[in-house]
Amino acid sequence: MDTKRWYANDFQQDKQVAIQSAAELLKAGETVAFPTETVYGLGADATNKAAISKIFQAKGRPQDNPLIVHVATPQQLKELVTSIPNYVDKLLEAFTPGPITFVLPSNGRCAENVTAGLDSVGVRLPGHPIALKLLQEAAVPVAAPSANLSGKPSPTSADHVWSDLNGRIAGVLDGGATGVGLESTVLDCTQAIPIILRPGGITKEQLEEVVGTVMIDPGLANEKERPKSPGMKYRHYSPDAPLWLVEGPSEKLQQVIDEEMKKGHRVGVMAASKTVAAIEADLKKDLGANMETVAAALYDALRMFNEHDVDLILCEAFSEQGIGQAVMNRLKKAASDYIK
Ligand code: TXA
Ligand code: MG
Repeated sequence: MDTKRWYANDFQQDKQVAIQSAAELLKAGETVAFPTETVYGLGADATNKAAISKIFQAKGRPQDNPLIVHVATPQQLKELVTSIPNYVDKLLEAFTPGPITFVLPSNGRCAENVTAGLDSVGVRLPGHPIALKLLQEAAVPVAAPSANLSGKPSPTSADHVWSDLNGRIAGVLDGGATGVGLESTVLDCTQAIPIILRPGGITKEQLEEVVGTVMIDPGLANEKERPKSPGMKYRHYSPDAPLWLVEGPSEKLQQVIDEEMKKGHRVGVMAASKTVAAIEADLKKDLGANMETVAAALYDALRMFNEHDVDLILCEAFSEQGIGQAVMNRLKKAASDYIK
């Protein structure tokens, strides 16, 4: 299949035409990748079963992993679910459009392969202007997982999408780099108290400021429990070389680097600016000065190491406060070892 690539940055004169062409393909039952404020999504009409099958096929995604449905307005969200607790209205007001997904009781309007047979559906209102415009033009709910091959890091640029899915999907709307860099927070809103199924762009602290107590799915912290969100049970985001997390001061990280280099291994390191400045390795990737820059740079860094010949990637372990919780959730999934 020939994959179309439209350039839809603000400076592009035919941005509207690009978005309209992409919306036409979605309406015709094709798959189109588009930027959101978190990562690029691979979209298809959520009410069209055959279109949704194309997403699973293009990504090589397990069939039991449900998709997130993207809509442009709270009204469209309400059209997909049977009921909405009061706290969701507060969260819609506070955080949307933005990086949060609400899992609510499904009314069955979405195709059955969107929800993977569950009686709930995950819905989100993305904050990216191109995503919002596309959803308005398409005028259908759009199911969209991250636009990567299953198992690879999520794409934070159209180049990432292109390298995974060129030839496998109908088109890509190129809107440049995404902002947050990590996926949305998935929040189970089917109970009296909301439960975080996947930490993401909106932090636990931010949610609690608006609705009080928020729980975290025990399956996220405890290896023995089965996560409630089907996607969280898979190992994910993996670079080709093994990734080890290293906790402690930069001296300890240096010690691990030295030991591995002595064995003849080429060692790549990813860390925040301060740590990067304090260590020596074969290849260093600076993730920036704070947790927001670390989140934004993380997936690109994991992909970057695949293009270089390293035997091992080391990453410093970060504090699990704020967006650090989502960063560490993804790193632990990508890592094969955690040195404490
Ligand atoms: O930021 C994001 O959420 C991105 C952009 C493209 O919107 N999308 C994304 O989709 O990350 P995906 O498919 O890569 O991850 C969806 C996650 C999976 O872990 C899936 O299991 C969970 O959401 N999920 C979806 N529907 C669910 C449901 N009804 N109940 C529990 N978990 C659900
Ligand atoms: Mg994904």
